Amino acid sequence: MASTRVHLVLVHGLFSSAKVWKAFETLIAGDPELTGRVSVHLFEYDSPLGRLRPDRRVAETDDIADQLGTFLETELADAERIVLVTHSQGGLVVQRFLARKLWNGEGAELARIGGVADSYWEALEGHGRAWRSLGLSFDPFAVCREALGAHWPGGVAVGRRGGRELGDGVAREPNQGFLVHFDDASREYAEDLLDTPLIGQFAFNLYLSVPPSGGETVLWRHRWQPEDERYRLPASYGYDEAVVRGAESLEIAPRVGEALLIDPRYFHAVRPSSGARRVALGFAVGLASSGQLVTWA
Ligand SMILES: [Fe+2]
Repeated sequence: MASTRVHLVLVHGLFSSAKVWKAFETLIAGDPELTGRVSVHLFEYDSPLGRLRPDRRVAETDDIADQLGTFLETELADAERIVLVTHSQGGLVVQRFLARKLWNGEGAELARIGGVADSYWEALEGHGRAWRSLGLSFDPFAVCREALGAHWPGGVAVGRRGGRELGDGVAREPNQGFLVHFDDASREYAEDLLDTPLIGQFAFNLYLSVPPSGGETVLWRHRWQPEDERYRLPASYGYDEAVVRGAESLEIAPRVGEALLIDPRYFHAVRPSSGARRVALGFAVGLASSGQLVTWA
């Protein structure tokens, strides 16, 4: 992995310029651990204060997003691994760039951008140690997988990436709720996340504790479209609830011991809890083209 040079593309923010990255660039250049492994590229675009009109913002962002696409295609034509780092408005530019690529059916061109961070694997080791330290006489995620696969002819297994087993599950306590969002492995990861291509994706949650009020899971019959990015909340995974305005919805207040399997590519949210903790064990479930169900977290 370390043998492939990473091309770091820095995208500055609004009312700013590539000069803003100077200190960052100097730090990277002076870090012996990164020497020969990282090449820094500055993507510069014009963002004059006086010319910007609020009603033109989307159009301007689209233009800059297209300029970024051209930059990656020309300046970095031979780069195998690209990481985009953004500041402020730069994040919106990259979001628009990715959305427009996908919308135009050019998602495959994004294969050199993104991936699974090395820190994921390090975190996974800590996660394994923490679960083992509980001294449980059973593996709760294995129990969930067995129950899920009991009537599924293709079987269930923890998914692998590059031959390595991914995380088997997480315990989540979203007492504050989750904003309206969607999860889609094929959009979040530029390449196939798992070694086996997926033809469907679900989210599994088993509820261990639920509050007397709140904590409902809400699911809308609406899947992400590029226009929905207008409702994306700044620096957040979530969207303004207006993104699902008018869409048919389903609200479920799960009970302890119940499990929910939803298609998380539809927008969904969790309402804030009050009166008690809301704790669930969960993992993603993919339907592999082989017919097997594969789980990961
Ligand atoms: Fe989700």
